Amino acid sequence: PADVIALPFSDEQQTVHLGASRVGEKALEAGEVAVFVVAGGQATRLGVDVPKGTLKITPVKHKSIFRHHAEKVLALSRRYGRPIPFYIMTSESNDAPTRQFFEKNDYFGLKPDNVFFFQQEMMPALDFDGKLVLDAKDHIFTSPNGHGGSIFSLKRSGALDDMKRRGIRYIFYFQVDNVLIKIADPIFLGFHIQEQAEMSAKVTPKRDPEEKVGVICRAGGKTKVIEYSDLLDEQRYATNPDGSIRFSAGNIAIHIFNTDFVERLNAQQHSLPFHIAEKAIPYLTPEGKLVRPRKKNGLKFEMFVFDALCQAKNTVIMEVDRNEEFAPVKNAEGEDSPHTARDLMVRLHTKWLIDSGAVVPLDAEGKVTGPIEISPLFALDANEVKRKLPLGYEVKPPLYLGP
Ligand code: UTP
Repeated sequence: PADVIALPFSDEQQTVHLGASRVGEKALEAGEVAVFVVAGGQATRLGVDVPKGTLKITPVKHKSIFRHHAEKVLALSRRYGRPIPFYIMTSESNDAPTRQFFEKNDYFGLKPDNVFFFQQEMMPALDFDGKLVLDAKDHIFTSPNGHGGSIFSLKRSGALDDMKRRGIRYIFYFQVDNVLIKIADPIFLGFHIQEQAEMSAKVTPKRDPEEKVGVICRAGGKTKVIEYSDLLDEQRYATNPDGSIRFSAGNIAIHIFNTDFVERLNAQQHSLPFHIAEKAIPYLTPEGKLVRPRKKNGLKFEMFVFDALCQAKNTVIMEVDRNEEFAPVKNAEGEDSPHTARDLMVRLHTKWLIDSGAVVPLDAEGKVTGPIEISPLFALDANEVKRKLPLGYEVKPPLYLGP
């Protein structure tokens, strides 16, 4: 198992976290932190033909995922007294609609100068005979080269140079579909800086041995993500003396990497491997008819950003509470869907209200009796809610607390 900074329980651990938070806040105040979201994926599981970030997600105001993220960036810029630049990676298929969405919505209050879009690269696929696939008479089928492609597209697009011009040293990376993301968490930044890490990751304990999530481990003297499918059964079910899962540090795709580290990965050749995935790939018949198969008929090639971890000189792996920081929108229904993401948002905001002394009507299961939503521009955490609301504030759902 990798060394993990555990959730703080004792007073002593709280003090250590508070110290890290101060270090992170200083970096934010000094303008050394950029926010970076990868949004180039194709959202095939969700099955929508618009960028995932444009999906309406918040429980009361039905704000889009992009607006929700952008409001967090704006709130953080206000809190730390300077604009925090926001970098957005798209891909060929969703670049134009993503840019248009931001333009149409006045960049959600951010200054366009501080929002930087760039496209990732595309990769050809192969059929099972190892041949390239035509999806039009004059076009080879390609698909985005994976979130790991971001490491190289940051450089090729000029985004990395733009960061350096601004004096950025730390890139806070997240994925567009995590609606609970704690953007630029100063505690995480602080630990990363204190440990002189080059790349860091947040993890949550695996729910059960079978959970399909990559696990951060030490292997060959390096910190690595071992994919779910690569973990041997004896490792998957291994337990600690107290019965807890031994290889439990579930990767939730929240990272910090240093601009210098990204530069170094770009200077090396083939610094990230390609992974193969069997997928259904559209193709032309010899008669020139386009077929969209349901069954897997070929191979796509993708790089994964977490493969960079093992190349970092130092890493920080920090445990967080899943219910406070991780609500991915992957599927249209069921697990990890808009429905579960909305529920988790309501749950978190309910907790903030209760922690700040508000009176919240709860049903028999302990759930708030109607939807509530706290805008990032009202509060980014429970402490801010507490500062802004009178003691004993009575919540009457539906409730929206906005700027
Ligand atoms: P996923 O692997 O969950 O892919 O990406 P996805 O496109 O959202 O959904 P499926 O698998 O097609 O159903 C996790 C994150 O990485 C980004 C996605 O936009 C998402 O934020 N990503 C993925 C990229 O930016 N580029 C890629 O090539 C792949």
